[in-house]
Amino acid sequence: MTSNSNHSDSHTSVLHETRSFPPSAEFVANTEVNADVFAQLNREAALDLDAFWCKRARDLITWEKPFTKGLDESNAPFFQWFADGTLNVSYNCLDRHLATRADKTALIAELDDGTVEHISYQQLYERVCRLANGLRSLGVQAGDRVVIYMPMVANAVVAMQACARIGAIHSVVFGGFSSKSVAERIIDAEAKVVITSNVGYRGGKTVELKKTVDEALTQTGSLIEHVVVFARDDSQTNMQAGRDIWWHELTAKQEANCQPAWVSAEHPLFILYTSGSTGKPKGVQHSTGGYLLGAVQSYLWTFDSTMDSGTASKHHKANDVFWCTADVGWVTGHSYVAYGPLAAGATQVMFEGIPTYPDASRFWQMIEKHKVTIFYTAPTAIRSLIKLGADLPKRYDLSSLRILGSVGEPINPEAWIWYHDVVGGGRCPIVDTWWQTETGTQMMTPLPGAMACKPGSCAQPLPGLSINIVDETMQTAAPRESGTLVIERPFPSMVRTLWRDPERFKTAYFPEEFGGRYVAGDSAMRDEDGYFWILGRIDDVLNVSGHRLGTMEIESALVANHLVAEAAVVGRPDALTGEAVVAFVILKGARPTGDDAAEMVKVLKAFVAQEIGAIARPAEIRFADGLPKTRSGKIMRRLLRSIARGDAITSDISTLENPAIIQQLQEK
Ligand code: PRX
Repeated sequence: MTSNSNHSDSHTSVLHETRSFPPSAEFVANTEVNADVFAQLNREAALDLDAFWCKRARDLITWEKPFTKGLDESNAPFFQWFADGTLNVSYNCLDRHLATRADKTALIAELDDGTVEHISYQQLYERVCRLANGLRSLGVQAGDRVVIYMPMVANAVVAMQACARIGAIHSVVFGGFSSKSVAERIIDAEAKVVITSNVGYRGGKTVELKKTVDEALTQTGSLIEHVVVFARDDSQTNMQAGRDIWWHELTAKQEANCQPAWVSAEHPLFILYTSGSTGKPKGVQHSTGGYLLGAVQSYLWTFDSTMDSGTASKHHKANDVFWCTADVGWVTGHSYVAYGPLAAGATQVMFEGIPTYPDASRFWQMIEKHKVTIFYTAPTAIRSLIKLGADLPKRYDLSSLRILGSVGEPINPEAWIWYHDVVGGGRCPIVDTWWQTETGTQMMTPLPGAMACKPGSCAQPLPGLSINIVDETMQTAAPRESGTLVIERPFPSMVRTLWRDPERFKTAYFPEEFGGRYVAGDSAMRDEDGYFWILGRIDDVLNVSGHRLGTMEIESALVANHLVAEAAVVGRPDALTGEAVVAFVILKGARPTGDDAAEMVKVLKAFVAQEIGAIARPAEIRFADGLPKTRSGKIMRRLLRSIARGDAITSDISTLENPAIIQQLQEK
């Protein structure tokens, strides 16, 4: 791990956003957690953290056998929570709602082509039970690993829930990953079964999921016994006799009830692979009880919701329509599509397609059509929709919205303001949620009815989480001083270990010098009001002439320019200044060339110098039609660093959305 700032040269953050947006009086009057409740929750957690979480685990989760103990620290950092309790996640997401709200819509599933299906809790329960029985009939048992490689259709959630129901550990692989990535994940997890789909659709394009699985299986020996194939439509696919079986054939004769496997709270619910600082993805392993508690509790707090007490409930929040646009291939799609909202008994939208198809108004159309009240998406999507049609939201009735959310990366203040004003009509708090695959569920966010939002800040930790920023001497950093973001105390939803790699788990997240604290890998600063500002990954912090700069700060400055749609900043070694700032910029208009480009470089260098200071002025600016991103929308910084250094590209670019832009970015 790269060490963070040396105390003596640590830079005072150059972020100076001062706008603040308190919730309206009306919002506060109807909120579940107002400022007083928030303060009370924090007091309760400070008094007895273990009792705080145990109380919530009893209130929000239905246990088969109640636990007698909360946190067990005896084998730190392999913390355990509620270990002697038994439960089933699928039971908590489905069965327990049936007595009071069997007919309530659980999923509003919209396909790429606009077809919509409403699935009630009863129907979802039956689908999950049939598949769970089908998996059992194939010999899948509790503890076995199942790889799920599906489009964003309702059955992706059914597959996850069915695994949870029988205690099988799922490993969802995002549908945009290559066959090599699928194979690597199958091998690492020693999976027995793959659940996939013949095809999926994104933006009118066919995604050949089953074909990719077939390619992957040529590299995995005899590990995989069966491939269950959902027929998304009647597209043909090769079915290998004895190995491959159609989902509808497997489930046709199965019972619509299925006894859940009661497992220990510490039984692994899933593995999810995520990139680390080495080339090999990390298999982040999550638990059953602690994870579920984190998912449902954060869902309720952050999205100002209530556990639906049944169809008889008069409370308007029982009618919320939640939409998290994340794919189930990422942690956000696990916690805020597959588990959290269902455990709370909510109604949610699921969408197979992309925000720009058939045009850049798709999200706004869908919000209007399904009367979405809570909308949770990623800054990248917001920025691309600004670029493609900043005025489009005004053509739709978005008055159903009451909360907006952002996740996955820092949101720059300009995008925040547009999201707030144009999408939210100036009326909706924006919950900018900071968390990670490893934390399982949200860690920091403005609680919408309890505090003001500041554009670009993830505000404060949720109750029960002790998050701090420390300097090199492990002291709490002073206000506006950047440092390493750490989590001081264990929390229920945290990563339990890395799949079959406990050593890497310890060194990656609990390096010795941090004395038992969880190290998130981000740098951050806190302002005078105690609001947290994420400055970027520790390895993305630049050191220019001895001054430390967060890449996000320079990016924010660039995108504050009205001509700029998007920007990514990386460092490259420089003989004079140590590191130099290289900016890759996407303009709202056409990519400039020749004299136009030279002129634009001058304008933007001056602009950054004006926004932040001369120290942040990029040494080099290059233009392209897009940034290299993974299909999940993450900018591939390592690739940009190679390009900035002029290195040959050796890394795998198979997951890139648009490989052609690499050449543009290489042109000086
Ligand atoms: O750097 C932080 C950034 O994304 C990282 C976690 O990425 P991942 O495990 O893929 O999970 C993404 C979905 C939770 C963090 O270490 N990040 C995530 N959310 C935010 C963020 N950075 C700034 N603001 C956020 N709201």
